[in-house]
Amino acid sequence: MTVFEPMCDADTEAVIALWTTCGLTRPWNDPAADIALARRSRESDILLHRIAGTPVVTIMVGHDGHRGWVYYLATHPEHRRRGLAGAAMAAAEDWARVRGVPKMHLMVRRGNEGVIAFYEALGYEDGNILVMQKWLDPGREALYPGPPGRTG
Ligand SMILES: CC(C)(COP(=O)(O)OP(=O)(O)OC[C@H]1O[C@@H](n2cnc3c(N)ncnc32)[C@H](O)[C@@H]1OP(=O)(O)O)[C@@H](O)C(=O)NCCC(=O)NCCS
Repeated sequence: MTVFEPMCDADTEAVIALWTTCGLTRPWNDPAADIALARRSRESDILLHRIAGTPVVTIMVGHDGHRGWVYYLATHPEHRRRGLAGAAMAAAEDWARVRGVPKMHLMVRRGNEGVIAFYEALGYEDGNILVMQKWLDPGREALYPGPPGRTG
């Protein structure tokens, strides 16, 4: 069985390094701030799996009182295609299920469509939903390039 546990303070540097290696960080998503916010909430966690003590797989999971969401799914390149991300998704689903969450959602960035086959293999499907967004932090918005086609 692949064990996942909530990350602790001492994991922060290794988790940020893993996300950077896996290409998940963006200028407008300060990973340290994202970690702090997720860990401050009682309704979210960052779960990780270690090999020889080092975090090699992560997943951020939480719920907003209605739906469950996952973010920052990452497997270190040296440990891919061994079912670890599938195990991470199962751990996140279990996390949500025990909290009574009836449905999971996730977002895939345009340009990362290759990963859709991975999610489909786990039973996820296109929800026919358009995700809309609005920044509340002008500092972060300034770093965000905006959706394709936005001119202003
Ligand atoms: C996506 C990612 C987490 C998958 O990690 P992983 O541990 O290798 O995934 P698993 O071993 O659990 O994959 C299980 C199955 O999913 C499918 N799969 C996994 N990665 C895939 C990919 N990049 N493209 C297509 N199918 C993929 C395969 O069918 C695989 O089974 P197989 O190895 O028997 O063929 C990893 O490639 C990664 O960290 N990518 C960079 C970060 C990222 O894009 N995260 C997702 C953001 S939405």
